[in-house]
Amino acid sequence: MDRISIAGGRALNGVIQISGAKNAALPLMIASLLTPDRLTLKNVPNLADVNLLARILRNHGLDFTIDGKRAEPSPHMGETFHLTARDIVDTTAPYELVSRMRASFWVLGPLVARCGQARVSMPGGCAIGTRPVDLHLMALKELGAEIDIDGGYVVARAPNGLRGARVEFPKVSVGATHTALMAASLAKGETVLENAAREPEIGDVAECLVKMGARIDGIGTSTLRIDGVSRLEGTVHTVLPDRIETGTYAFAAAAAGGDVELQGARRTLLEAAFEALEQTGAAITDTDKGIRVKRDGRALEPIRIETRPFPGFPTDLQAQLMALMTKANGTSVIRETIFENRFMHVQELARLGADIQLHGDTATIKGVKALRGAQVMATDLRASVSLVIAGLMAEGQTTINRVYHLDRGFERLEQKLSGCGAQIERIVAG
Ligand code: EPZ
Repeated sequence: MDRISIAGGRALNGVIQISGAKNAALPLMIASLLTPDRLTLKNVPNLADVNLLARILRNHGLDFTIDGKRAEPSPHMGETFHLTARDIVDTTAPYELVSRMRASFWVLGPLVARCGQARVSMPGGCAIGTRPVDLHLMALKELGAEIDIDGGYVVARAPNGLRGARVEFPKVSVGATHTALMAASLAKGETVLENAAREPEIGDVAECLVKMGARIDGIGTSTLRIDGVSRLEGTVHTVLPDRIETGTYAFAAAAAGGDVELQGARRTLLEAAFEALEQTGAAITDTDKGIRVKRDGRALEPIRIETRPFPGFPTDLQAQLMALMTKANGTSVIRETIFENRFMHVQELARLGADIQLHGDTATIKGVKALRGAQVMATDLRASVSLVIAGLMAEGQTTINRVYHLDRGFERLEQKLSGCGAQIERIVAG
């Protein structure tokens, strides 16, 4: 298994190009199941999760090609995917595939909306918590689907099609909003989704659906009104920039010190994270091409924050912020309110010398003078990258094991960081 080795203590100076958002690319690819026509997606990041989803969708009969695929993908442009689900040949998403990537469960909504039936394996738990699917099922039931659980599979049936309904989510869920939005686009009549997630990736999918012929009002708000249509068409859509990747490199620049321009980044996608970063003492300015993050020799100020659905501080940046705060000039408090077990990075940060106490959903981080490099490993994507940030701040050598987590969500991470002066390299397993 590959590892990443970092010699810490070097400032970051230069330019990093932000890739297309993984968490928009995945549901956009799934939206291709809603139409027999071709959906072209531009700026798709080259990531393990994206490639795995393409394989999963092929299983349903999707025809999938990549434009101008080269051995060395262009460093500054994502790939262009052409996805055509002319005939859905199989409405089952088997355990072997769904268990490898949770977001693939989201095929359920489009499949039952278009084909009147779907059989999708329950995704099961994962490293960051139990992550149930009850809200997805509730939404589909409201839209008229019959739902059974059979042998670990969700079986959804709507032989006469789905029909519009009012769906009020008792809790904000990104995935359940995707499921309901996609399904309602092909339902008969009007659907109103209340307390819908407002994450920018939902807006990106909604904009793409509108180009495909869907009628959606309220994009970007927590009430989405969808007037169902009988058929959606193909279109061309560009995936929005990855706000979590943006925040990760912004925190990395603040952690290592230096001056980094994040080209393609959009401030409106992560106001809360930038506010937090400014409180720590980093300077953030808009440039013609994106956003510049700068921190001189000043000490990092501690922070008190809790994760919240958008537009609040994202759970997907919690681990990275915690890594940054390990060397703050005082005690920080971070409360995780979205997932119940998203602190797997704490014990690994402690290996580097961080002083973190956990009480339930709250981490108290006492800033230390220095971190020292060590061997670490992480169990999920964002936790892994928090260790990269800590490695950049630590004295000496840090080796991060289980790099495949990083490959799921960060495109060319080592190249992007080493382009700014970091001493980081991948040690390929022999
Ligand atoms: C999406 O996951 C993201 N994944 C996650 O990013 C992100 O952390 C999460 O949203 C929150 O922002 C993708 O976009 C592919 P949720 P999702 O449904 O949709 C509970 C990453 O690192 N819930 O918004 O699965 C759930 O347990 C990943 O890129 C129910 O109770 O998250 C959690 O506590 C990790 N019942 C809360 O809602 C349900 O039916 C929010 O989860 C569904 C969710």
